[in-house]
Amino acid sequence: MPTKFRSKTRVKTAKKPLVKKTSRTPVKKLMAAASAQMEIVQLKVNGRSYEFKVGTDITPSMTLSYVLREKLGYTGLKVACDEGACGACTVLFDGQAILSCLKLAVEAQGHEIVTIEGLPQDDPVITAFAEQCEPGYGTALQCGFCTPGFVMSAKALLNEKPRPTLDEIKEALSGHICRCGCYAGVAQAVRHASEKTAAKGGEL
Ligand code: FES
Ligand code: FES
Repeated sequence: MPTKFRSKTRVKTAKKPLVKKTSRTPVKKLMAAASAQMEIVQLKVNGRSYEFKVGTDITPSMTLSYVLREKLGYTGLKVACDEGACGACTVLFDGQAILSCLKLAVEAQGHEIVTIEGLPQDDPVITAFAEQCEPGYGTALQCGFCTPGFVMSAKALLNEKPRPTLDEIKEALSGHICRCGCYAGVAQAVRHASEKTAAKGGEL
């Protein structure tokens, strides 16, 4: 049986969490700010720029996860809890893993966002997740609902720390919930992605 990161194996000596759990900016404050000074919001997603008129195309209270999925069609990220508790909505925000359900779209103005659709198909992390099937660890995905979030956090981890220890991998992914319980396989996949990348000279 795979062991859940969130129970016994979870490392309690957290250093810097990779998924930023920023709390939502008060909506009223943002609405005032948005109507006072921001009519157009530009989002940079996966290398493309998108413009939204606040009040017409989007409202100041729309989350980044909602806009990415429902307005732009980046449905790779999932919205499960919608309150920062499961990691399914994780995207890269200026290279760091963030929970897009806790970020307002208007706050993303001028920042670089990468969703799982922005990664190449042969990305080493994606490949490692797909190939993971080792006896004793099992697969890194079953239903796959949680997988995009895990992959994006793994990307952020390996960008910052190309050769993480198993404990560092577990800590970096500890904010993610996998309903199928693939935790051991996920950690092993990230390890393999790191090893493969190192063997190729470190290009992630
Ligand atoms: S949907 Fe964002 S953390 Fe669960
Ligand atoms: S593979 Fe199903 S929730 Fe993780």
